[in-house]
Amino acid sequence: MSQPTTENPNRRDFLRGSAAVAAAGVLASQYTIAHGAFAQGSDILKVGLVGCGGRGSGAAVQALSADPGARLTAMGDAFADRLDASLKNLKETEVGDKVTVDPSMQFIGFDAYKQVIDNVDVVLLTSPPVFRPAQLAYAVDQGKHIFCEKPIAVDAPGVRQVFAISNKAKEKKLSLVSGLCWRYDHGMRATFEKIKEGAIGDVRLVQATYNTSTLKKFPRQTGWSEMEFQLRNWQHFHWLSGDHNVEQHVHSIDKVLWAMQDQVPVRCTGTGGRQARTGEESGNVFDHFSVVYEFENGVKAFTSCRQMDGCDGDVSDHVWGSKGYCDIFKHLTKGETNWKFNGDKGNMYQTEHNELFKSIRTGQPINNGDYMTKSTMMAIMGRMSAYTGKMLTWDQALNSKENLTPEKWEFGPGREPVIATPGVTRFV
Ligand SMILES: NC(=O)c1ccc[n+]([C@@H]2O[C@H](COP(=O)([O-])OP(=O)(O)OC[C@H]3O[C@@H](n4cnc5c(N)ncnc54)[C@H](O)[C@@H]3O)[C@@H](O)[C@H]2O)c1
Repeated sequence: MSQPTTENPNRRDFLRGSAAVAAAGVLASQYTIAHGAFAQGSDILKVGLVGCGGRGSGAAVQALSADPGARLTAMGDAFADRLDASLKNLKETEVGDKVTVDPSMQFIGFDAYKQVIDNVDVVLLTSPPVFRPAQLAYAVDQGKHIFCEKPIAVDAPGVRQVFAISNKAKEKKLSLVSGLCWRYDHGMRATFEKIKEGAIGDVRLVQATYNTSTLKKFPRQTGWSEMEFQLRNWQHFHWLSGDHNVEQHVHSIDKVLWAMQDQVPVRCTGTGGRQARTGEESGNVFDHFSVVYEFENGVKAFTSCRQMDGCDGDVSDHVWGSKGYCDIFKHLTKGETNWKFNGDKGNMYQTEHNELFKSIRTGQPINNGDYMTKSTMMAIMGRMSAYTGKMLTWDQALNSKENLTPEKWEFGPGREPVIATPGVTRFV
């Protein structure tokens, strides 16, 4: 069984020929180049935060710690209380003196991202995933460097859009760093390099597991519209989060993709359901998934995830090859090559920003568009297969017309939280 190589690109250019690529190609020559604009280390880099929750606030600290000239100058959120709390907390951190967000630079509402992006050099996109394609598109159009959290979309139209956007970022020489943080962990990098070098021979089987406890909930409050309730509880609604196979398990799925040298699968079969998520206000996401991905060279990846209280947790990834085995999280190989990583793993969240800001300063942009779109699409494909009960090919999934993004964003009635039923829910 041969390892996928660049000589055998099979599904590497997974969107070749699609409308998205055509659009990116036509537009590519029209863009100006931001290259080297911040080359002097003493220049101030204005940083904006879109989505001032847990991850966004963390990313802001990391951005400000990464570069002496970085200043947080604009913030945006759907809700004023979230922005206020984040701003207060950020001011109390060790980088609080670099938090200089004037009241006129605090933006609230669905369009807040535009005002933040208009006023900064670097933007941190950390709102719920459904908003990512539109926010990425605007940031790249405005010529801004980007850190964007995973996943990058909740549906195939969103993935196709982001693929085009990331090509556009490349053409404009903008940095686009993904929040798929394990790609920035030095131990993971060394481990996947070992696999690539052939330490375990040809990859034959991959196992990826993400079993955790359930999600936090924000009980409905007087005065909240249904839309506000759903948005504040975005992880519980698949149209906002993509479901946890996409929102959380994408980290593991990305490691499957990494082990496969970023070659995407040809098909998958998924199962899943809800046993523990019941009752009022429990949204419509599943609480467990199991998806088997199959690659062109016959390799299979067995992936599963669960979000239930009272059960054992397990977040681990394993790869078996023709000459040995690799425990991804323990950073070791066994078999013909017995190896263990003993170096400094670093702080992957900080490394993301160190490398982002360095890339801006040196005019050598980073573009993580390829793997962040592929792994998000793999995760969406698994969800669609589990929801419908159908085996899906990559091409079917990628060309899916299911569009979960509303045409218009406004507070008022939310979406009816329909729960998928395998065998009944149709693939669109
Ligand atoms: N890489 C990682 O390890 C990691 C860890 C946690 C979360 N994440 C990702 O980060 C993102 C945010 O997760 P979180 O845990 O911080 O969630 P959160 O709910 O704490 O924060 C999200 C914030 O976005 C705001 N928001 C909602 N709609 C918005 C809009 N249209 N415009 C601007 N702001 C909006 C919310 O009000 C909230 O303040 C998610 O995509 C999640 O998957 C990544």
